[in-house]
Parts: sequence; C-alpha cells; structure tokens
Amino acid sequence: MTQSDVVIDIQNLSVTFNRGRKPVKAVNGVSLQVRAGEVVALLGESGSGKSVTMRSLLRMHPKGTTIDGSMSVAGSDVTGLSTRELANLRGAVVSMVFQEPRLALDPVYTLGRQIEETIMRHEKVSRSAAMARSLALFEKVRIPSPARRLQNYPHEMSGGMLQRAMIAMAIACNPKVLLADEPTTALDATVQIQILLLIRELQKEYGLSVIFVTHDIGVAAEVADRIAVMYAGRIVEEGRVGDIIRDPKHPYTKGLLGARVELADGRDRLITIPGAPPDLANMPPGCAFAPRCAQASEPCRTEVPALVAAERAGQVACLLYG
Ligand SMILES: Nc1ncnc2c1ncn2[C@@H]1O[C@H](COP(=O)(O)OP(=O)(O)OP(=O)(O)O)[C@@H](O)[C@H]1O
Ligand SMILES: [Mg+2]
Repeated sequence: MTQSDVVIDIQNLSVTFNRGRKPVKAVNGVSLQVRAGEVVALLGESGSGKSVTMRSLLRMHPKGTTIDGSMSVAGSDVTGLSTRELANLRGAVVSMVFQEPRLALDPVYTLGRQIEETIMRHEKVSRSAAMARSLALFEKVRIPSPARRLQNYPHEMSGGMLQRAMIAMAIACNPKVLLADEPTTALDATVQIQILLLIRELQKEYGLSVIFVTHDIGVAAEVADRIAVMYAGRIVEEGRVGDIIRDPKHPYTKGLLGARVELADGRDRLITIPGAPPDLANMPPGCAFAPRCAQASEPCRTEVPALVAAERAGQVACLLYG
C-alpha cells in the first residue's frame, strides 16, 4: 500500500478511560489503514473497543480520557486539529452513521431542515439550493415520496427509512470517509440487507473509504473488502475478506466463523467461544483470548502476541503462528 492512497491511518492507538477506580484501556495499540475507496469491517463482540476506536477518529471522548498514538484522516492529523478544524472535518470530510439514528437526529426539526442545516454549515449555499440538494439526496437513498418525507419529523419514520435519511445526511457534503457503527444492527433482516446494499452502492459511486463496525461476520463478509478482527482492545487478525473466510488463522476468528480446528491429539472439533471477554481493567498478562482458547498453551498465558504478517496474506496476533 503506498502512503499516498491511505485515507485513514491509525498508528498504535491506545485509549484509556480514567474515570472509574481502575483505568480501563479500551483500545490497546491498534494500527489500521484504510485506502481510498476501500471498505474495512471492524469485527468483534460487544466491548472489544470497536466504537471507541471509531470515535477516536473524530476525537469524541469524554474529558479525562488518555489517547496515545497517531491518527490521520484524509491527510489531516486528527490529534493536532483545533476544535474548529475538527468541526469542519466532521460532515465535510468524515461522516458517521450510528446504530440508532434517532439518537443522532434532533426530534424537534424536520428531516429536511436537518439536512439543509448540515449542507449550509459546510458550504456557502442558499436555503433553496440546500432544499433542492436535500430532495436529490432523499431520491438517491430511495426514500419513497421524498418531497413529503422531507417534511417529516424523525418519530414519523420507521427505523429503516430513518437510517436511509441518516445516510443521506452523511453523504450530503461529499465526504471522503464514512464511519458506520453497526448501522444495521437495530433493523430486521430484510431491511438490514437493503441498507447494506445501499451503503455499498454509495461507497462505490462516491469512492468512499469506509470503516464498518459490526459484530456479525456475515455482515462483514457482505460489505467489506478487508476485515480487522478486534478482541479486548486489540486487533488480533486482519486480512482480505476472502482470505479470512476461507482460511481464518486466529482461534477467535475461527470461533466467530464456527470453523473446525485440529487439536494436538489429532481429533478435530468445532470451535465455539465459551466464556466472556476479559475485564479491561484487569487484563490477563498474556494473550487476552487465552482463557477462552481451546488451543492455548503455557506461553500464551504470559506473552502478548504481536500482530505479524501471516504466512500467505494478512496479519495475525497468535503464538500458533510465527
Ligand atoms: N466513556 C467511557 N468510560 C469508561 N469506559 C468506557 C467508555 N466508553 C467505552 N468504555 C468501555 O470501553 C470498552 C469498549 O467499548 P466500545 O463501546 O468500543 O465497545 P464495542 O466494541 O463498540 O461494543 P458494542 O458491540 O457493544 O458496541 C467497553 O468495556 C466499554 O465499557
Ligand atoms: Mg459499539
């Protein structure tokens, strides 16, 4: 990957929350690059640090949070931006879509009004021009009766339609980057597929770089070019979708896929993932997955495996490799 086509560059990011009795290291040395026009799925179970990683890219953290490492988006060093520069970056260069669009929208304004305001905040255009663009955007995301729907308040829309409206708002100012944090998790299965297809279609048309957060490996496979698997604040495996699905390496990824592995005694077994992720305020000394791993051996309990290039493709952080 050449340096010039990297749009999102996260280097050795650690995020520690200091509010409780013990510090909580929610993200622990994450590095991730996303190229122009590439979709990377950030995959992992609840609490693995996916949302915290995403929010770091827009510096959306409560006071007292320690952030180490470096992050740049479309050439801007996020850590060095002023509050004003950050506000300009948001929406115009980087947009975010969330699991619960209702929380991101203002209940007292119509959807049309909110999209217009978003456009006028970033660009010098008249209200009537912004209105025309809002209508075109609602048509683009295929909201039926778009002119009438622009007059609706958020509570008048179904979850799926509201997510379409959020996506319209997210692409309103032609961003380079879309951060999508479980945008389909709250929707039922058929609507979920429609929204995934819509995001994929817009991503291609606009050449967006996307980080798509999900806990569902099927969704990741559907939407992404590459998958980064997170566990307890670290990336434990990363690679192209096809490679991860065909040949998962980390025992955790295998567990997510319900894959079969051969044990030391020659038997094979279906990997399931018993147990729960570790307490981030009391991390085990070695591999964070070792307490749940059928293939863990003694060194796994003392040594934290580094993320290294895997044999044929991708990267894996597991002592079974290398
Ligand atoms: N503001 C905060 N203060 C303290 N701890 C936090 C804060 N925000 C997140 N955490 C903790 O950081 C860890 C990672 O949270 P994060 O929201 O990134 O998980 P996630 O992978 O997005 O999970 P989910 O799939 O449930 O959304 C969790 O243990 C969470 O409790
Ligand atoms: Mg989350």
